[in-house]
Amino acid sequence: MASDKKLIIANWKMNLDMHEASLYLHKLSKMVKVHRDIEVVLAPTSLTLQSLSLQVNLKQFKLAAQNFYWRDSGPYTGEISATQLRGIVQYALVGHSERRHVFNENDKDIRNKVAAAIRNNIRPILCVGETAWEHANNETRDVIHDQLAGGLANITSEELDKIVIAYEPVWAISAGQGSTPVNVLPDDVQMAFQAVRSQIKHLYGEKASDSIQVLYGGSVTGDSVADYLALPGVNGLLVGWASLNANTFNEILEIAHKSASAKKKD
Ligand code: 13P
Repeated sequence: MASDKKLIIANWKMNLDMHEASLYLHKLSKMVKVHRDIEVVLAPTSLTLQSLSLQVNLKQFKLAAQNFYWRDSGPYTGEISATQLRGIVQYALVGHSERRHVFNENDKDIRNKVAAAIRNNIRPILCVGETAWEHANNETRDVIHDQLAGGLANITSEELDKIVIAYEPVWAISAGQGSTPVNVLPDDVQMAFQAVRSQIKHLYGEKASDSIQVLYGGSVTGDSVADYLALPGVNGLLVGWASLNANTFNEILEIAHKSASAKKKD
């Protein structure tokens, strides 16, 4: 059964070297209180995962891989497998828009990765979302439906329970960093979340659609955290550049905790 905690994930992408990552974790672990209503996940580069796994307090933070190859072992120069990540990470991003659009990952790669993660006891975070062109042409719903059907092909209902979905509109990712972050309208987020849940309902039934954890990502800042988390059905956030500074990310976690506990009292 999927957890009802808010999941807040820091995706550091190709930033922070080993030394910076270790200092960040040291600093953040001193600031962050363990709250029962949020689960905090750090997704550093593959290079730093193992050393952070020795440093991390798993009661405080979980770790996620940003990427891996779907075969368990073999002659695949330059790749690491989910089998090798087993025991080091608890989660793994799959199908992030940068993997789809910069590295040309297709639905077959993505569905193989979802299955490999599950086979190796790692929770996949399957990312979906439309490009600016698809958004302008009202194709968001179709894109989400296709990406979910493609990524989840061959996944059983029992396995679905281990999967998290993240909706990240491609046009909002890394957009307007700093002073003018892109604000994705609540109506757009709601529509996309409905598209996610309606496709899960179509594929796995109503219970699965109600219980699956769905996250929002794309230019999230401390200013927008509470607004996104207040939307019905938003179970957490995937934060990129605003998570690169430990102080800023800690502020995001505090706001997330306040809004999660306020929602519980409603
Ligand atoms: P930004 O928060 O930098 O827009 O990145 C979002 C993202 O891609 C998280 O996975």
